[in-house]
Amino acid sequence: MAGAGEAVVVSQSTHVLPLEFNRRYPVIVRGEGVWVEDASGKRYLDAMSGGSMAATLGHGRRDIIAAARVQAEKLAYVHNERLTNPLQEQLAHELAGVAPTGFTRVRFVTGGAEANEMAIQIARRYHVDRGDSKRWQVISPAQAYHGPTMATLALTGRPGLQRPFEPYMPVHPHIPPSTWRFDPTGEQALQALDRALETVGPENVSAYFCEPISAAALPAYSPPKRFWEGLAERRERHGFLICFDEIVTGIGRTGHWFAAESLPIVPDIIATAKGLGAGYAAVGAVLCRQHVYDAIAGGSRKFTLGHTWDGAPLSCAVGLKVIDVLKKEGLVDRVRDRGPKLRDQLADALEGVPLVHEVRGRGFLLGVEYVDPRDGKSFLPPELRTAGRVDDIAFEQGLITYSTMPTRDGFSGDQTLFAPPFTSTDAELDEMVSRFAGAVRHAAKELETKLEPRPV
Ligand SMILES: Cc1ncc(COP(=O)(O)O)c(C=O)c1O
Repeated sequence: MAGAGEAVVVSQSTHVLPLEFNRRYPVIVRGEGVWVEDASGKRYLDAMSGGSMAATLGHGRRDIIAAARVQAEKLAYVHNERLTNPLQEQLAHELAGVAPTGFTRVRFVTGGAEANEMAIQIARRYHVDRGDSKRWQVISPAQAYHGPTMATLALTGRPGLQRPFEPYMPVHPHIPPSTWRFDPTGEQALQALDRALETVGPENVSAYFCEPISAAALPAYSPPKRFWEGLAERRERHGFLICFDEIVTGIGRTGHWFAAESLPIVPDIIATAKGLGAGYAAVGAVLCRQHVYDAIAGGSRKFTLGHTWDGAPLSCAVGLKVIDVLKKEGLVDRVRDRGPKLRDQLADALEGVPLVHEVRGRGFLLGVEYVDPRDGKSFLPPELRTAGRVDDIAFEQGLITYSTMPTRDGFSGDQTLFAPPFTSTDAELDEMVSRFAGAVRHAAKELETKLEPRPV
């Protein structure tokens, strides 16, 4: 059987339907702290919290495993449609306690896309229950990722992701990101927002939906203050809701329980997932403010759609233990205090590499943006796969990173996401930075041999 005892699996040697058919998949068999080990015994530093930013507390935590075992022995599962359980009740209470003020109600799901879809449905329910049933359109930034389901895919404006599935997707308007390249002040994004409102009619808009601080789509990017202020003004004027996708940023990743706390705007609905289960259980949540709840309470008085595993005792027991660990070990504060230094360390280690345009950081969510070193600003030629080479070289050197090359979508070029577990020690962070800088410098050297000099 492929995978058993082998260090790498390829598409021809497995019954798994792989994500990328030309990729070689290293087989990871165990993990401890910030290290994972493949089937050949080679160890890797996990600078990506399990690859997807979920394993925020590292691997092999006996306390979380014990909490899951205790709960599984008592009661692993009951469905939340007709029954509730103390774990769901307690976890909702805990989340309301760490969420920004006013987020009083919580519904559980099992993952990020589900949380985002539920956020769209809650926004829609809010409007319908207020008698405003025309509202359904969702405006969102184009350079984003909200999940692979049809509804969440429709919230990104990236042809590369959407095109094959377009016939299934509702059409929503998108606005460009306010990056240094396109719109440093946020003014053009506000104008694009106004145009989008105009095009679909503000009376038809249910929500503005965004990552408050972007993850893989545009690592550690957040629009300028002017944009958030303008967005808040438009919400006031037009009556739509603001939904934050905090699937990655929620539960401590940016040095706040929720990234919303660090921005000059308060959303109406927050969706979160990954860090809530910290890689030990599939659990996500949607939180809404009291006025959203009140509209439903004063209207249909129901929001019945849900999934089989929503609010199950086993996954909620894990969520509770994760919050307990974060609080007891002061990890959200650690991420907030250590994050800026980690960003500086990365920037120092990459100093003088013309391939690197910017190192961004918000807590333990960091991003490195690459440009064509021949002019210091253009996107790199996509066929060179420069950021992909950074990952390959880093992996050979025993480091897991995550790079993307969404160049053909038009808003962002080669980039790497760097998102270590909150529990990484200083020495482990130093080692991650050093291996990463080594990989980037190596990729930059390789690139020099591939790029034709441009005529002056
Ligand atoms: C910002 C963001 N939103 C939503 C999702 C989708 O989450 P899931 O894969 O749990 O459905 C992801 C996954 O990477 C994400 O990064």
